[in-house]
Amino acid sequence: MKNKILVTGGAGYIGSHTCIALHQAGYDIVIYDNLSNSSREAINRVSKLICAPIEFIEGDIRDSDALRQVFAEHQFIGVIHFAGLKAVGESVAKPLMYYNNNVSGTITLLEVMAEYKVKNFVFSSSATVYGDPEILPIDENSPRSCTNPYGQSKLVVEHVLEDLAVSDSNWNLITLRYFNPVGAHASGQIGEDPNDIPNNLMPYISQVAVGKLAKLSIFGNDYPTVDGTGVRDFIHVTDLAAGHVAALKYLEQQTSNIGFMPINLGSGTGSSVLELVTAFAEVTGQNIPYQFAERRAGDIASCYASADKAQSLLGWQAQLSITDMCQDTWRWQSMNPNGYKV
Ligand code: NAD
Ligand code: WQD
Repeated sequence: MKNKILVTGGAGYIGSHTCIALHQAGYDIVIYDNLSNSSREAINRVSKLICAPIEFIEGDIRDSDALRQVFAEHQFIGVIHFAGLKAVGESVAKPLMYYNNNVSGTITLLEVMAEYKVKNFVFSSSATVYGDPEILPIDENSPRSCTNPYGQSKLVVEHVLEDLAVSDSNWNLITLRYFNPVGAHASGQIGEDPNDIPNNLMPYISQVAVGKLAKLSIFGNDYPTVDGTGVRDFIHVTDLAAGHVAALKYLEQQTSNIGFMPINLGSGTGSSVLELVTAFAEVTGQNIPYQFAERRAGDIASCYASADKAQSLLGWQAQLSITDMCQDTWRWQSMNPNGYKV
């Protein structure tokens, strides 16, 4: 009762893993999700993994009345806000849908939180807010700019949170900027379940490995990187989940309010696309046929985090390796070739 957290988007990929970590850390959780990109089966499996029932409310973050009801019925110490749409290409085709969901939805949630005087907020932001970085590794003070509506929606929310902190010093607004989340729970029971053909690299590799897709296209082999392919900071979703618990613990330890606080969650190490493909093939023993293709529009050459702030402030750092990421992704994919669909 004293440590109840509302988890919006808790049925999704990162949210479901974080719910397990929250439960293990002794938090009481309520999931609020409209299931637009997730399923009840994910929640059932989380419930089985933690051996406890989960309170789930099907609802939309843009529905202020439904949110009011949730806040009236529960006394939350804070909100972890995962709910949002995340497909970059789709955001270019449907910008209004993205701004409505990600920006208006977040504002509605913050308004209801303010009404109920719940002012601890952990927001899922993204390394995408750094655009094409001038300096690597990227620290939290790097300039921000975005080139697509998805990224803009995250950046706009960051600005909203900054203004909110200025307007009212009672807010604690931790903004976690995730780098490239991959991997799955070590049980193989929960993982990433893209609706369609995956846009992201790791789910694409694993669907090639399981035989659902014929061949990976590696977008660009002429970047100024170690082997010409793009470099990213892959971070295991279990480490990411632990980062959210560390953020909440940090908030609980503070004696004064912290306002807007951005923190990178990344491993601090860059790996190339080709390195990830090679590691996946080695770790799993699966053949991953690939071809080089044109650069993908909007992609950058290299992106990896300085994770120093998370380490010094939260005492958090990534523990799991690329090998773990590949092994766990493969366990999830091979045990659930159709994701949560039976
Ligand atoms: P996901 O799609 O698996 O999870 C998002 C969840 O939010 C889904 O369960 C979906 O049903 C729910 N949702 C969407 N709109 C909603 C609404 N209006 N009301 C209620 N629920 C809603 O995505 P994820 O990978 O778990 O990402 C979680 C968050 O982290 C997102 O905000 C995403 O933008 C951000 N993020 C993700 C990545 C990544 O690569 N996965 C990287 C950086 C940031
Ligand atoms: C990684 C690398 C591709 C697919 C995206 C979002 C970002 C964040 C994380 C939410 C790139 C290459 C990919 C494929 C490939 N999400 N690739 N073949 O683009 O770094 O980040 O997800 O916040 O906002 O933009 O991730 O996994 O799509 O790509 O060669 O089939 O893999 O070109 O170099 P990205 P990704």
